[in-house]
Amino acid sequence: MTANHSNIDINESVPVQEPERQRYFMAKCRELVQRRERELGRKLTFHDQTFGCQMNFKDSEKLNGILEEIGYVPTENEEADFVYYNTCTVRENANIRVYGRLGTLKTYKKKNPDMVIAMCGCMMQEEEEVQKVRDVFTFVDIVFGTHNIFKLAELLYEALRSKKRIFDVWEGTDMIIEDLPSDRKFNFKAGVNIMFGCNNFCSYCIVPYVRGRERSRRPEDIVAEVEKLAAEGVVEVMLLGQNVNSYGKNLEEPVSFAKLLQMVEKVDGIERIRFMTSHPKDLSDELIEVMAASDKICRHLHLPVQSGSSRILKLMNRKYTKEQYLTLVEKLRAAMPDLSLTTDIIVGFPGETEEDFQETLDIVRKAQYDSAFTFIYSKRSGTPAAKMENQVPEDVVHDRFDRLLKVVNQVAKERNARLRGRTELVLAESIDEKDASMITGRLSNNNVVHFTADPSVIGKIVPVVLEEAKGFYYLGRLSNG
Ligand code: 5AD
Ligand code: SF4
Repeated sequence: MTANHSNIDINESVPVQEPERQRYFMAKCRELVQRRERELGRKLTFHDQTFGCQMNFKDSEKLNGILEEIGYVPTENEEADFVYYNTCTVRENANIRVYGRLGTLKTYKKKNPDMVIAMCGCMMQEEEEVQKVRDVFTFVDIVFGTHNIFKLAELLYEALRSKKRIFDVWEGTDMIIEDLPSDRKFNFKAGVNIMFGCNNFCSYCIVPYVRGRERSRRPEDIVAEVEKLAAEGVVEVMLLGQNVNSYGKNLEEPVSFAKLLQMVEKVDGIERIRFMTSHPKDLSDELIEVMAASDKICRHLHLPVQSGSSRILKLMNRKYTKEQYLTLVEKLRAAMPDLSLTTDIIVGFPGETEEDFQETLDIVRKAQYDSAFTFIYSKRSGTPAAKMENQVPEDVVHDRFDRLLKVVNQVAKERNARLRGRTELVLAESIDEKDASMITGRLSNNNVVHFTADPSVIGKIVPVVLEEAKGFYYLGRLSNG
């Protein structure tokens, strides 16, 4: 997406208002980049490494939009003129991976001293990580956090102008900056932020500390963005928030998530609506009704359970019991028999006993998940769970993790087999990574199917016969009937 930048006067005084201020700095950066291009006789390139969840990937689309507006061209090669790492800190191994990779950039920078390296994202919201980058990774030029990604152009301009390291991490914000560029990965589907932050403080989770308090975008801004996407050819939107079910509660004029869905449904051209993530404690009857009555809202719900033990759920501060969760699942299944349900599960939360773990296996069997993301509990400093006693020994956790995976896979396989032979509508998304003669697409329920078809179907919703069920995916063919 390119914006009209011809009316920006780069000699006038710096605008105070956003997004005008950032548009001004994009123009200033563009000048510097163009000068450098002329010196080098080539375009300047950028590369991103994004870790973590959909929120981070969405943020990277925004950062890439700004960089493209400035004149950088994207490259798959990490030896680029501008490289940024958008980091995740939800589990410890995410941090380890980031530092593991960062070292390679140092050698690239030796070859190209003008290379600019930036770090942002959730890890940079933690003081000790920023300190580490300051002291150890001295080749990193720019550090910013999750609250000020919109400021990239300003920070970059300052770094290029001053040749100094720039650190700008905000503790929190109540700002939501609309109307900045964004670079979308697909032209037929797009993620749309509907809210930022999280107020739930699950006791194991660092997200509320690094993403701040819940802030919802105004429904009219969201609808306007979806309308624009539809006009650009997008057929599927994914509404993104840490806990979409509490959307709109803190707006000046409160709006429920179900109402927002109804507004988005009215947008012509949008054929599928997905959303992520739902907290079970806030999932309303109104939402179930709106979903069940809709042709556009996909038959998929990601409903993290985390544990099947009511005792552990209490310690996790999840605010529901095993029984309440299962009652919710029953309600959902009664309203939408074809619904696919997926979840997140943590094993090895402090104090988890074999009995607690058996409750988790039991809920997987009872809830009949189509798939589940399973995680080993990771101690995040600053969270209440990090201070809890009875951390579970590593070998016990690994053993439970393996046993859980077996049950999850077994249940998923059984669920998956039930659609075999049916013809389903599929959004064709890409050429199959493993077999270039096949197309990979998704059913409304988010299951993946690889099917034989011409690449011209990519971006379209087409009927596909699901010939074989392969556990987590199907093999199929385009239906000609
Ligand atoms: N350890 C392990 N898994 C975690 N998650 C969040 N925090 C932790 C942690 N400290 C998982 C939860 C959440 C998902 C995004 O990550 O299951 O739903
Ligand atoms: Fe973390 Fe809980 Fe918020 Fe999800 S709802 S981001 S697990 S605190």
